[in-house]
Amino acid sequence: MDKPNDLMDKLVSLCKRRGFIFQSSEIYGGLNGCWDYGPLGVELKRNVKNLWWSDVVTSRDDMVGLDASVIMNPRVWEASGHVGGFADPMVDCRKCKGRFRADQLYYAVRQGQSRHGGTVSVGFSAIADKAQDALTAMELQLKKKGRQIREWSSDFEPIRYDQQQSDQTPCPVCGEQECLTAPRAFNLMLKTYMGALEDSSSLAYLRPETAQGIFCNFKNVLDTQRLKLPFGIAQVGKAFRNEINPRNYTFRSREFEQMEIEFFCHPSQADQWYKYWRQARFDWYINLGLGSQRLRLRDHDKDELAHYAANCADVEYAFPFGVSELEGIANRTDFDLKQHQECSGKDLTYYDDQTKERFLPYVIEPSAGVDRSVLAFLCEAYTEDEAPDDKGNPKKRVLMKLHPKLAPIKAAVFPLVKKDGMPEVAHKIYDDLKKRWNVFYDEKGAVGRRYRRQDEAGTPFCITVDGQTLQDQTVTIRDRDSLNQDRIGIDKIASYLSEHLGN
Ligand code: GAP
Repeated sequence: MDKPNDLMDKLVSLCKRRGFIFQSSEIYGGLNGCWDYGPLGVELKRNVKNLWWSDVVTSRDDMVGLDASVIMNPRVWEASGHVGGFADPMVDCRKCKGRFRADQLYYAVRQGQSRHGGTVSVGFSAIADKAQDALTAMELQLKKKGRQIREWSSDFEPIRYDQQQSDQTPCPVCGEQECLTAPRAFNLMLKTYMGALEDSSSLAYLRPETAQGIFCNFKNVLDTQRLKLPFGIAQVGKAFRNEINPRNYTFRSREFEQMEIEFFCHPSQADQWYKYWRQARFDWYINLGLGSQRLRLRDHDKDELAHYAANCADVEYAFPFGVSELEGIANRTDFDLKQHQECSGKDLTYYDDQTKERFLPYVIEPSAGVDRSVLAFLCEAYTEDEAPDDKGNPKKRVLMKLHPKLAPIKAAVFPLVKKDGMPEVAHKIYDDLKKRWNVFYDEKGAVGRRYRRQDEAGTPFCITVDGQTLQDQTVTIRDRDSLNQDRIGIDKIASYLSEHLGN
């Protein structure tokens, strides 16, 4: 059985080897917190986004889409509370200059993890106590401003500190004692300047969430689309956060993508819609192959909720590095529209012609991370088993058991050998399928090795043209997971794929 880190190492290596995910700017040594999706990764990611879009937008009649700008008027972020309170607690090591998120540091210490070896839990309580006080104060302050310390307990189990007494405060990286600063609030918004001047008048932010673009367009969408409550606005797009400590591969990045819905309804219906979206979003992951035993819906405790949130639940996945959040579903009440109404001075109320009632709608927000979903699907898919090699001997095999709807390549087409007219027949099949699906043609090397490459790419089907094809116009179709091979007529390939791929 692999240790969690071994499994992550193997997955990271496969993702690089096969072209799912690369380090950003790798030839220059990379850039912490940024990742590039390679030819297979971009297809997987697009499939995730397209499946989400068709599920929540195009297959429904109560949802519309939006694509708002990444950089918005800075006043948006004052109204939303991000300028004042979008912060994580940061701790610095004065010696090695390491920088940590205080809650992660405590978690690491609690677990006795330390890069310089040995346990670091002894002597921790002094900083833990100091930090705990500072964090509690900071959290209260942020809550008053309408923000929470993010993901306070979503990455980890609720933090409970050892109560050992000591005056030592070791750094988990260099091991130096008494070198850690007290936690300070660190604003996570990435800043830039717009226009020719670089001063406070041209300061702008890269959006830390896509949600605010939706709130700011609520009236535009309402007025132009002639919508009636309840209805939702959905958006997929990049978000940026200057994470103190990007980690766990793509899980916590500085540049990432979100898939967010703001679903507007009458306040009296908010609870019902919250329950609906909480379940619908959980089911979406299950239906795309995340195992129910690794996925859970965790309702926030009342003291975890931001003061404006009436309810919140997280969809969490048991990654090899721990149980962590994929998506949050929150009843945000009318907090955001009220804030923007007050700060912009524009009327954002909704008028119901039938009841003659004017009010600010409540909002249910299912907010998902594209990169985190992709990572969860990759972790779930990684499988090792045994399969016969070209000589029929059992050999270790690595395969990505991605759901066919997520698989970057739907089918690969091979001529058994590169002669006797087989490549021509195989190429014709490939050309026909290419019009409908992302398929791959390969004639290089032993067929067994070609199968293995596709297993690692997560390709559900391999179609092989062999000697018999030339006589009876049939091919073999090999199933990635079961290794079963069906022999079917060339004219039946498209319907076979359509049935098994579900599109
Ligand atoms: N509008 C609400 C909002 O942004 P959030 O919990 O801060 O809520 C929503 O973010 C989702 O965005 C998370 O559940 C996660 O999937 C994703 N996300 C947030 N920060 C991320 C990061 N640094 N790297 C990758 N994904 C992130």
